[in-house]
Amino acid sequence: MENLALAEDVWIVSGKININGELKLKSDVMKKDFIYHLGEKSLMNVFSNYYLRPMGKYIKANYKDPLVGIEIGTAFGYNAKNMLIELPIKKLYCIDAWKMYGDYTYENMKEQTEFEKTCLTAINRLKPFKDKIEIIRKFSDEAVNDVPKTVDFVYIDGNHEYEFVKKDIEMYEGKVRKGGVIGGHDIDGYGVLKAFVEYVHDKDYKYYVKGPDWWVVKC
Ligand SMILES: C[S@@+](CC[C@H](N)C(=O)[O-])C[C@H]1O[C@@H](n2cnc3c(N)ncnc32)[C@H](O)[C@@H]1O
Repeated sequence: MENLALAEDVWIVSGKININGELKLKSDVMKKDFIYHLGEKSLMNVFSNYYLRPMGKYIKANYKDPLVGIEIGTAFGYNAKNMLIELPIKKLYCIDAWKMYGDYTYENMKEQTEFEKTCLTAINRLKPFKDKIEIIRKFSDEAVNDVPKTVDFVYIDGNHEYEFVKKDIEMYEGKVRKGGVIGGHDIDGYGVLKAFVEYVHDKDYKYYVKGPDWWVVKC
């Protein structure tokens, strides 16, 4: 229990991050906290499937009206389920291709059959919430027109390579209403961190980094 508390409160950064040209983690605060976070990674991984993640907690604390949200990358459905239990969600769009492609791997899956099993696991896990979810089995760039034009939040947790995260942010941030939240998972990965820093560094949005999550409140 002591460890769980640590896992949830590992890392908080806020303020403006300055970058010059190519991405360098210029901020000493950022650099220090990034290294610190990596030290806690295994702990985060153990627990992050089973509790509402920091972005979810932020939404739970600050948004009371029925919400429409999008999760990019649903995998086994852990995070979607946690959000559906804990948040006042009226509709959650779960986007995942469950497909082997390029160099992409997740949880050491090596065969398409393993992705198929993962997809079935997610469907079963999310069955109790069938009236509140729409599963969109597509790549995120193909699914962009299958979700509403305006939503309350987007959680990005698909391919964590820089180009993919950047594209997901670019494609989906326009859907988030003013005052809504866009964020995602695994900011301890370089690709996610880089895409996040590039997204926020020249904006006046309020942003948060906590535990494995990052998120931005649009204004
Ligand atoms: C990190 S897992 C998601 C974990 C899930 N959000 C959770 O916390 O329980 C990443 C998922 O993204 C999916 N994925 C990878 N690239 C994708 C893409 N371009 N479009 C949609 N889904 C993608 C994978 O199939 C995989 O299931």
